[in-house]
Amino acid sequence: MKTWIKRTLVGVVSLIGVAVVAVFVLATLGDRKLARRVEVAVAGVPFAADAASIERGHYLFRSRGCGDCHGLDGSGGVVVEDGGMLIRAPNITAGPGGATAAYTPADWERTIRHGVKPNGQPVILMPSEEYARYTDADLAAVVAYVRQLPPKSGEGATVRLPLPVRVLYAVGVVRDAAEKIDHSLPPSQPVAEAVTAAHGAYVANGCTGCHRADLSGGKIAGAPPDWPAAARLAPGEGSVMPRYKDADAFAAMLKTGKRPDGSAVSKVMPFVALREMNDVDVRALYLHLTTMPAPR
Ligand code: HEC
Ligand code: HEC
Repeated sequence: MKTWIKRTLVGVVSLIGVAVVAVFVLATLGDRKLARRVEVAVAGVPFAADAASIERGHYLFRSRGCGDCHGLDGSGGVVVEDGGMLIRAPNITAGPGGATAAYTPADWERTIRHGVKPNGQPVILMPSEEYARYTDADLAAVVAYVRQLPPKSGEGATVRLPLPVRVLYAVGVVRDAAEKIDHSLPPSQPVAEAVTAAHGAYVANGCTGCHRADLSGGKIAGAPPDWPAAARLAPGEGSVMPRYKDADAFAAMLKTGKRPDGSAVSKVMPFVALREMNDVDVRALYLHLTTMPAPR
C-alpha cells in the first residue's frame, strides 16, 4: 500500500475511534448526571384530607397530566416507548411497589415542585417545571387526592434513554426539570379562579414543559425524532393563536384535538388531560395567550 493511503486510513480510523470513545464518555456523563444529588431545602406543605381539597386534587390530577402518565388509578404505566426510549411512570399509590408509601410532606413537595425524588436524584421525564409554581393549596390538593387513591400494586419507574439523548443530556441540550426550575422562588400566591389573564398565566405553567417557559415553542429537546415541534403560543411571528378567533374555537381544539379547519393536531399534545380542563381555566388561558407580551 502507498504510504499516503496508509496514513490517510490510519487517520480516518483513529478519528472514528476518538469519536466513538467521546460518545461513550459523554453518555456515561449523562448517566452520572441523572444519578447526581440535588439539594433543595423544603419545609413541606402539611397534608390535607378535606373534601374540597380532594375534589380540587382530582381535577388537577386529571387535567394536568398526572393521570395521563401515572394512570387514572395511579398504578403507573408506559409513557414513551419509541426508538430505543422506554419510560414507565411508577405506581404512586400506597400499594405494593408504590413509590409514595413512605412519602413525607417534604418528599411530595420536592418531587412535584422541584423535580427531585426523596433520594435526591432528579426526575427526567416528569414535567415538574409545570408544577413548580403550584400554590400551597394546589400542591396540598393534588397530594390529598393521590394519598386517598385505593392502594394498587404496580411497578416502579423505568427510565431507558437512547444513546443520543444521554449525550444531549450530558452536554445540557436536554435538561431535567430540576435544572429548569428556579428553586429559590417562593410559592405562587393564589389568584382568584376567574376568566382573567392573571389566572390564565397560572394555568399556562402547565404548557411550559413542551411549549417552553416563555411559550415561544420550538423543537422539544430529547423527544423521539417523529415528534413535531411545539407550536408558538405566545404572540409574535409564527404564533398559532390568530388561528383561534375566540375562546370557543380554542376550547373546541382542546376538547377534540382538531384545528378550526378540521385537521388533527399531533397526539403529542396531551389531549387526554387537556380535554378535562374546565371552562374557566380554558377561557383564562385564551385571554393570557392572546394578551401576554411577545417574548423575543
Ligand atoms: C409526562 C408524564 C408525567 C406526568 C405528567 C407526571 N409524572 Fe410523575 N413521574 C413520571 C415519571 C416517568 C416518573 C419517574 C421519574 C422520572 O421522570 O425519571 C415520575 C415520578 C413520580 C413520582 C415518584 C418519584 C419517586 O421515584 O419517588 C411521583 C410521586 C409522581 N411522579 C407524582 C406525579 C404527580 C402528582 C403528577 C401531577 C401533578 C405527575 N407525577 C405528573 C411521569 C409523569
Ligand atoms: C407533551 C407536550 C405538550 C404539552 C404539555 C402541551 N402541548 Fe401544545 N403542542 C405540542 C406539540 C408537539 C404541538 C404541535 C402539534 C402539531 O404540530 O400537530 C402542540 C400544538 C399546540 C397548539 C397548536 C395547535 C394548532 O393549531 O396547530 C396549541 C394552541 C397548543 N399546543 C396549546 C397548548 C396548551 C394551551 C397547553 C397547556 C395547557 C399545551 N399545548 C400543552 C405539545 C404539547
